[in-house]
Amino acid sequence: MRIEWEQEVSLPGMSLALDFSLLALVADCCAVCEKVPVQTAVHVLITDDSHIRDVNRAQRGIDRATDVLSFPTVNYPQGKTARTSLRALRRELDPDMNACFVGDILISREHAIAQAAEYGHSIRREFCYLLAHGLFHLFGYDHISPDEQKEMRTMEEKALQLAGVTRDGFATALPTDEQLLGLAREAMHRSYSPYSHFKVGACLLCEDGRVFQGCNVENASFGLTNCAERTAVFKAISEGATGFLTMAIAAENAAPWPCGACRQVLNEFAPAIRVLVTWKDNQVAEAPLSQLLPHGFGPKDLP
Ligand code: THU
Repeated sequence: MRIEWEQEVSLPGMSLALDFSLLALVADCCAVCEKVPVQTAVHVLITDDSHIRDVNRAQRGIDRATDVLSFPTVNYPQGKTARTSLRALRRELDPDMNACFVGDILISREHAIAQAAEYGHSIRREFCYLLAHGLFHLFGYDHISPDEQKEMRTMEEKALQLAGVTRDGFATALPTDEQLLGLAREAMHRSYSPYSHFKVGACLLCEDGRVFQGCNVENASFGLTNCAERTAVFKAISEGATGFLTMAIAAENAAPWPCGACRQVLNEFAPAIRVLVTWKDNQVAEAPLSQLLPHGFGPKDLP
């Protein structure tokens, strides 16, 4: 999904303290866990108690600061959430962003810091939690009845778990193939492809459980284009990740089997990697790299 970040200017140093890449992954994980059927966009304002109190008073008549506020744009049919509300979501399609705008989230920095101390977890986890909470509100969840609250909490936990933002810092399970394909689809929506209009997204799973997303990045000097798969691989290598298990790749209308160059780059680090592709209405195919690049030349061939 696409996030437009904004921060109150009265919060100097905030951009250094917040891990926006992690927050972006959390947002994608929320969309994947909800199986949101369209590309979505959201506006997130990181603010302070005084501003969030003003907004809470002006919009909801509650004269008090709070941790997170969300203002959904989508009018979900009674009892439904984003996964089953394609038509309602499509009404919010913003042609400039090529995404459905699901609403605004405000997070109070002061509340996030205080609550992290209160719950005994990191400020990082608290921001991730508040973002996930705000997003599920924008996807149509609420916590008025205990049943609704339980359902919303389950979704939040699932998304945070997928992003690896657990209470103790350890994820208990690797993402499923379906989740990896979902994360590749979310990355596809950030593709920079004004020349080919062929959007590709990738998600690389490493054995330590980390995932690296990538999209194709084109250039007016065409030859400089970088494919989605290589974006993901280069991100992983430059962050010290090794042991690549699965490469999931998503495109819109055609099966995005990796190009020759990407097969060669994958072969450098993971000749046995599984390659999954998805396109159109969730069509999926799989092949091992050894089949996509038989008799490949790689590190093993050099003394
Ligand atoms: N592309 C990829 O990102 N991955 C592939 O495996 C095949 C092609 C991109 C590159 C370019 O931006 C566009 O798709 C059309 O070739």
